[in-house]
Amino acid sequence: MSSTPTLHLTVGLPGAGKTTRARELEQAHGAVRLTPDEWMIPLFGLRWTEFDGKRDVLEGRLVWVGHQVLRAGTSVILDFGCWSPEERYALRAIAGLAGAGFEMHYVSLPEDERIRRATARWREAPEEVFEMTPEDHARFHGQFTPPTPAELDGSPLPPPPAPFESWPAWASERWPSLPRLDA
Ligand SMILES: Nc1ncnc2c1ncn2[C@@H]1O[C@H](COP(=O)(O)OP(=O)(O)O)[C@@H](O)[C@H]1O
Ligand SMILES: [Mg+2]
Repeated sequence: MSSTPTLHLTVGLPGAGKTTRARELEQAHGAVRLTPDEWMIPLFGLRWTEFDGKRDVLEGRLVWVGHQVLRAGTSVILDFGCWSPEERYALRAIAGLAGAGFEMHYVSLPEDERIRRATARWREAPEEVFEMTPEDHARFHGQFTPPTPAELDGSPLPPPPAPFESWPAWASERWPSLPRLDA
C-alpha cells in the first residue's frame, strides 16, 4: 500500500454509477467508503422530500469522519455526487489539509439510460435508495454542473468566494455540521 492516503470523490447524478464505482475503489484501495444513501434511510426513513437539510447535516459529519480517516493514513471514498464545483473544490482543499491526495471519479450516462437504471434500482431495492419522479430527475439534471476538463485535470484551486477566507471556511457554511478544519 502507498503511504499517502487519497480522498476519492464520486461525482454524478443518481443512477449514473457512483456507488458501483465507489465499491470498486473500496476493493482496489482498501479505502473506507462513505455513502450517504446508506445512512439516510436507516436514520431518517423513506420520505426523502421531508428531510431537506438532514442530508447536509449527515454529509458534514461524513466529511469530518473522512478527514480523520485520511489523517490516520487510510484512503476514503466520499460517495456524494457533488453537483457543484464549489463543493468539489472545498473537498479537494480538505484532502490537502489532511496531507492526502485527491481523485475525482466522474460518471455520466445518457439521460434516458441513467433514469432507467435509477428507476430499476429503486424497484429492486426500495429500502436502500429513494424513489425519484421524472420531475425530480429533470430538476436534478438542471442543478448539476459537470466538472470541466480543467477541474478533472486538477488545475490549481481558485480562491474561495467572498467573504470566505478559505475553502474549509466555505465548507463549514455549506455543511453546518462540519467543524472548521483549518482553524
Ligand atoms: N455497467 C452497468 N450496466 C448496467 N447496470 C449498471 C452498470 N453499472 C451499474 N449499474 C446499475 O445501475 C444502477 C445505478 O448504479 P449506482 O452505482 O447505484 O448509481 P449511483 O450511485 O450513481 O446512483 C444500479 O442498480 C447498478 O447495479
Ligand atoms: Mg449511489
